[in-house]
Amino acid sequence: MTDVPKDPGVILVDHPLVQHKLTIMRKKETSTLGFRRLLGEIAMLLAYEVVRDVPTELVEIETPIKTCLMPQLAGKKLCLVSVLRAGDGLLSGMLDILPAARVGHVGLYRDPKTLQAVEYFLKLPRDIAERQAIVLDPMLATGNSAVAAVAKVKQAGCTSIKFVSLLSAPEGVATLRRAHPDVTLYTAAIDECLNDHGYIVPGLGDAGDRLFGTK
Ligand code: URA
Repeated sequence: MTDVPKDPGVILVDHPLVQHKLTIMRKKETSTLGFRRLLGEIAMLLAYEVVRDVPTELVEIETPIKTCLMPQLAGKKLCLVSVLRAGDGLLSGMLDILPAARVGHVGLYRDPKTLQAVEYFLKLPRDIAERQAIVLDPMLATGNSAVAAVAKVKQAGCTSIKFVSLLSAPEGVATLRRAHPDVTLYTAAIDECLNDHGYIVPGLGDAGDRLFGTK
């Protein structure tokens, strides 16, 4: 792993449990079933960090013992935006923790020659402008898809956006932060670099293929 320059807009979720599960995901012998289950588990742990700064408000409740003021979540409602297709692997675990969130999808594929993101699908909730969006893509590689996905969410009127990846390349982190400095990135690891095919090194291979067993 490389040293990460301190940037308050990049939250490295380096909890031992997350790192342990990620190491198993990286192993080439880990099955589709194991990979999918671990991604869901890590997504739950990432969700816990992503909502850490959500405001709370005191509400009056009655316990069997007495009436009292207790905190409940306040602030903007959430919208999870999955970048197809690998984003769906993070989505299910996030929804386990944040079951009331709305869900949007952005379909992007990487042109293998230019590595640029090409859009083929977009469906976002109508009220996304009023929500806190959390954009999900397990692999922040070149950053081109991330930049394009966030731009789509902004074009829909949303002004409060976070981005969650499982694994990032330094190039992707820099690209996303440069294009969208207002978007905080949550990631479980920042690896060494990208290879000539735009894959993260050492990485874990193609997240979509490993998640859906399509290789
Ligand atoms: N997408 C992947 O699935 N893996 C990488 O390493 C980079 C982009």
